[in-house]
Amino acid sequence: MSSHPHTSPSPVQVPHDPGRLPMTLPLLAEKKRLADPVVMVTAYDYPSARAAEAAGVDLVLVGDSAATTVLGYSATTPVRLDDMLVLAAAVRRGLKTPLLIGDLPFGSYEISDEQAITTALRMVQEAGCDAVKLEGGGPAPVSRARAIVGAGIPVMGHVGLTPQTSTALGGWKAQGRTAAAAVRIGAEALALQDAGCFALVFEAIPAAVTEELMPRLEIPVIGIGAGPATDGQVLVFHDLLGIRDGLGPRFVKRYANLQEEMNAGVSAYAEDVRARRYPGPEHTYSISPEELAALREQLG
Ligand code: KIV
Repeated sequence: MSSHPHTSPSPVQVPHDPGRLPMTLPLLAEKKRLADPVVMVTAYDYPSARAAEAAGVDLVLVGDSAATTVLGYSATTPVRLDDMLVLAAAVRRGLKTPLLIGDLPFGSYEISDEQAITTALRMVQEAGCDAVKLEGGGPAPVSRARAIVGAGIPVMGHVGLTPQTSTALGGWKAQGRTAAAAVRIGAEALALQDAGCFALVFEAIPAAVTEELMPRLEIPVIGIGAGPATDGQVLVFHDLLGIRDGLGPRFVKRYANLQEEMNAGVSAYAEDVRARRYPGPEHTYSISPEELAALREQLG
């Protein structure tokens, strides 16, 4: 048999509002100017991209959180560039209007500006990303950001809790909880802005610190666990939909419990198979009585 009748011949079409303009960097800057909240969500495959498209979000990040959400690692560091390229390409196929940002995974940009440019080019050319994101605001990440921007690829910075270097930060915990640490985050954010980043992520920073820093920045800031003062919010797809064990970090608001629904669905299927309730007559293919009789004759 040449085809697989149990698979769909083509992916389900992405619901798309034809009136919605694709997100661009000028439109994003305009949203900040108008104080119009920016919605960002992560996605890692075609269905999650379709959900983001259908919801009309502004920015989609193929986060290196893919390591934990879809690849089963306990940290973000093991995910490789080749993994990210496959995931980002699938997300690209599911999106029409949001700006697609690809996270540069650990080890793919630290060595040199040249390595960072090469990696960013692959995210754009091979996966179809519109922009890339990198973590950290020290001299090396700032240099990488400037180099990638210089190569013509938009860069989003990321300060506060930067999971790729969480060991060096003392663990997976909020950052900027002393005046000195908050000043450092502010300086890093400004350095990334000066390097040409089009936007920043603030992760796990006290809301009051975010409030102090926001008036000092001109580019859009998207928060995750950074309070309500940012220009927009980002959540991890699997956290907000409950496709995970446990509740996750305190900043997560859960909008569904899909892991429970998936478990219940697969359990019900397993029970049906074991009880021979599935497949029913409506799930089977027919053959004409004549052909069946001929078959029986040929089989003896
Ligand atoms: O990898 C990721 O999902 C992220 C977001 C939390 C911003 O970096």
